[in-house]
Amino acid sequence: MERPVKIAPSILSADFAGLGAAVEAAQAGGADLIHIDIMDGHFDPNLTFGASMVKALRHHTTLPLDCHLMIEKPDRFVPDFVKAGADIVTVHEEASPHLHRTVSLIRESGAKAGVALNPHTPLANAEVIAGEADMLLLMTVNPGFGGQKFIRSVLPKFEAAERLRVERGLAFDIEVDGGITVETAPLAAAAGANILVAGNAVFNERPIAHNIETLREAASNKARDAQATG
Ligand code: DX5
Ligand code: ZN
Repeated sequence: MERPVKIAPSILSADFAGLGAAVEAAQAGGADLIHIDIMDGHFDPNLTFGASMVKALRHHTTLPLDCHLMIEKPDRFVPDFVKAGADIVTVHEEASPHLHRTVSLIRESGAKAGVALNPHTPLANAEVIAGEADMLLLMTVNPGFGGQKFIRSVLPKFEAAERLRVERGLAFDIEVDGGITVETAPLAAAAGANILVAGNAVFNERPIAHNIETLREAASNKARDAQATG
């Protein structure tokens, strides 16, 4: 059974001088969550913002704030992000030597816990924690920037994650992040992703509502087609 697709615009591709307005526009345009990329310049080759930005944006939307921490030693900052208003805090497996402890900390702090895997990291690295996680984020680009090309060789990992979820009777969301377009959204959705992060495909010269609707339609149709033929 396919789950309905949710769209999570990534503000990394929005105008940093107007992020409050960008978040409001995303909600008005039909977004389901707001994806916020936190980068520390160590885990990935870019810097963005910290918990104070999340706190500021909290006043501009009622949508869940989906905070993707691409930072080393994320435990240091988990309580700050939750206090700032994060609804989901996702940490990278590669940056979390004590992942079980970190996931527990996120949940004890009051947020949903996500576990992210870089494109080359095997699903096996998240299997033990899968029962404890609210979301599995599978990167389809290398962390750091918006507008990169979707790495297709990650697709079987979505299928494996969906199999794992069904076999164990688990409810975790499967989020795809990186290079989502109208062409790649259907591939990820058909493979098992039910939350689509989209930066450049949402924040561009076309209207946000149109972009979100187009992505949702593309993903939903493909998911239906795959079910009908498969
Ligand atoms: C990349 C970030 C992504 C990024 C996606 O490190 O995690 O969330 O914003 O941007 P697009 O959709 O443009 O590839
Ligand atoms: Zn992200």
